[in-house]
Amino acid sequence: MHSSQNPASTAPPIRRRLLITAGPTHEPIDAVRYLGNRSSGRLGVHLADRAAELGWQVTLLLGPTSITPSHSGVHTVRFRTTADLQRELAQAFPDCDVLVMAAAVADYRPAHARTGEKIKREATGLSLTLEATPDLLAQVAAGKRPDQWIVGFALEPRDRMLDSALKKLERKSLDMIVANPLETMDAEGIDATILSRTTTEPVAPGPMSKAAFADFLLGLLDARPQSSRSSQAPALHQPTHSKR
Ligand code: CTP
Repeated sequence: MHSSQNPASTAPPIRRRLLITAGPTHEPIDAVRYLGNRSSGRLGVHLADRAAELGWQVTLLLGPTSITPSHSGVHTVRFRTTADLQRELAQAFPDCDVLVMAAAVADYRPAHARTGEKIKREATGLSLTLEATPDLLAQVAAGKRPDQWIVGFALEPRDRMLDSALKKLERKSLDMIVANPLETMDAEGIDATILSRTTTEPVAPGPMSKAAFADFLLGLLDARPQSSRSSQAPALHQPTHSKR
C-alpha cells in the first residue's frame, strides 16, 4: 500500500484495494433471449463511489444494469454472464485486499444456449435444460490469502434469513455476510443484518438507503482485523438476536 507522496495533494491516501461485484447476470438462451434477475446493482455502485471518495482503490465488476458509478476513480469492468464474471474475478481477486460479492449471480443457466439463432415459436412449447453455475464465491474463498477479507451476500425470505446466512458464512468460508430479505432486490432501501466471524453478535443497523448502508459497511471494513483465516477465527455464533 502506498500513500500520496505529494503534500500539496488533497486526495486522501489509498488505504485498501477493494474489489466489488454488482448487478445481475444474463445467461443466454439464444441469440436474443436470456435468463436474468431483477438485481439493479445499486448497492454495489454506491459502495464503489463512496469507497473511491474515501480513498480506497476500487475495481467494480458490473453486470448488465443501467446504474453506473459516478466517481472517476472507480475502475469498472463490465460482465454479462456468470462465466464472464468467473474470468474477471480470477484475474482481479489476487490484487484485492477486500472482495465484496454483491453480484446476483445466476444459480442456473441454459445447458445448451443456441446463441447462433433465434428460437422459433412453437405451439407445443419449449423445454429448457438448466445446469448449475459454479459457486464463484466459494471458489475464490477457497483460494484466498490470510490477509484477504471476503464479504458475501445472502438474499433470503425473512423468516429463515439469519439461519441461511450463517450456513453460507461457514459453507463458503467467508469473513462476513450481509443478509437481506427478498424485498431488497431492486429496491431503493435496505434492511440488512451482518454476520461476521470476528464479532459475536449480528449487527442490524435498521432500514436505510443503500447509499447510507454503503457508508456503514465501509466503516465495518475499515475496522476489520488485518489478518483473518477461518482456522484462527472465533467460534461462530448462533443468530439469537432480536432485530434492533
Ligand atoms: N454466488 C456466487 N456464485 C453463484 C451464486 C451465488 O458467487 N453461482 C454468491 C453471491 O454473489 C452472493 C452469495 O453467493 O454473495 C450468496 O448468493 P445466494 O444466491 O443468496 O446463495 P446461493 O449461494 O445461490 O445459495 P442458495 O441458492 O442455496 O441460497
